Amino acid sequence: MKISIIGTGYVGLVTGACLAEMGNNVLCLDVDPRKIEILNNGGIPIYEPGLEVMVKRNVAAGRLAFTTSVEASVAHGTLQFIAVGTPPDEDGSADLQYVVAAARNIGRHMAEYKVVVDKSTVPVGTADRVREAIREELAQRGVQIDYSVVSNPEFLKEGAAVDDFMRPDRVVIGADDERALSLMRNLYQPFQRNHERIIIMDVRSAELTKYAANAMLATRISFMNELANLAEVMGADIEHVRKGIGSDPRIGYHFLYPGVGYGGSCFPKDVQALQRTASENGINLHVLNAVERVNDAQKFRMLQKLDKHFDGDLQGRHFALWGLAFKPNTDDMRDAPSLVIIRGLLERGATVTAYDPIAVHEAQRILGNVEGVRYASSPMNALEGADALLIVTEWKEFRSPDFPGIKAALKRPLIVDGRNMYDPALVRGFELEYDAIGRK
Ligand SMILES: NC(=O)c1ccc[n+]([C@@H]2O[C@H](COP(=O)([O-])OP(=O)(O)OC[C@H]3O[C@@H](n4cnc5c(N)ncnc54)[C@H](O)[C@@H]3O)[C@@H](O)[C@H]2O)c1
Repeated sequence: MKISIIGTGYVGLVTGACLAEMGNNVLCLDVDPRKIEILNNGGIPIYEPGLEVMVKRNVAAGRLAFTTSVEASVAHGTLQFIAVGTPPDEDGSADLQYVVAAARNIGRHMAEYKVVVDKSTVPVGTADRVREAIREELAQRGVQIDYSVVSNPEFLKEGAAVDDFMRPDRVVIGADDERALSLMRNLYQPFQRNHERIIIMDVRSAELTKYAANAMLATRISFMNELANLAEVMGADIEHVRKGIGSDPRIGYHFLYPGVGYGGSCFPKDVQALQRTASENGINLHVLNAVERVNDAQKFRMLQKLDKHFDGDLQGRHFALWGLAFKPNTDDMRDAPSLVIIRGLLERGATVTAYDPIAVHEAQRILGNVEGVRYASSPMNALEGADALLIVTEWKEFRSPDFPGIKAALKRPLIVDGRNMYDPALVRGFELEYDAIGRK
């Protein structure tokens, strides 16, 4: 099949590469010439495990190409995937300007039947806006060409995106017409050789399904964070509680990890956008309001702990910080809790040396050349001259650290662990103070 992908970011590039891997002919469009130049020169603009080799293989096979030409992209694919960003607007609602711009471009240039696939996470009703934008452009041109608009939300996780796309738990397709549905079924057939994974529904339900999934996951995290804070006060250990409830198959183990709050490019903005959609329709989502409030507060949990350990005075203190990315295996720093923690430390007069295996360039881009933040080339190098070690992202390489080395390097032998990576008894056995989330 001939496919165009509009927006070559985390979702667009993975979608394009994986569809090319199955033998399709894919052209990826982006308005950012820098991204397209990197891709056309054989690089990739983001870090995502397994993606680079797949991109190279499919480019070499002539199945995957990149362009900044809207005309070329509209002409190429019968299927036009919209995978542009939907960042939060000032009021928290999803900003649909990029989605609508992509739709208008299609309407402006299409010469034959197209299926326009909304892959971006978009509020209920967006497919109607996309349909309308294309209709207006066609009317302006005075032409009549058939097209369909379908919703196909993406559920991949950054850090495991290629695997998630190649072996999806489910493929949700919201479609109102048989012609588009049949093309979508054919497209996803190779991804479900093992068993049927396609779930077909109406467009609005598909749009809502994506928000419901992220909102549910965010809810689990905030629920556990709130209970962790209670456990800490009550002298219980949230890690025991987590295992105790996760073993119930009705609950399950996934997404029950307490920490320093959720971040990233999806949960914060999607929770907000869903609340906004609800309030615009006169409905208050009480649970989600609380989920967001708990999360905002949790991002300050580590700073509160430091205030406690250093008698409320962090002026002149220096901290080692392990992990900048919002989660392991990605360089994505959008809404990362590390940013709140670093900015909070700087405001309190403290300085930081941070280490992250992948995300340093993104942190530098977002934080700028700010005084008081340095970056180390290894976890142990970050400890030099530090008053304590703060763990913010649970990268695998932090799982078995050199505890005696940590103790020797720190001015005060204190680890504040925002990800509950270690057995407290083990750490204390090395005569280190250990303060984690929701643990005795
Ligand atoms: N990142 C994730 O893990 C993830 C997972 C599931 C769904 N989503 C959703 O997918 C969408 C894309 O997310 P992302 O993380 O890939 O965003 P991203 O910011 O990484 O990529 C979006 C790209 O679209 C480009 N773009 C913007 N307007 C354009 C236009 N008119 N024509 C062509 N290109 C254009 C931008 O330059 C950018 O490169 C969002 O709605 C997001 O919520 C993201």
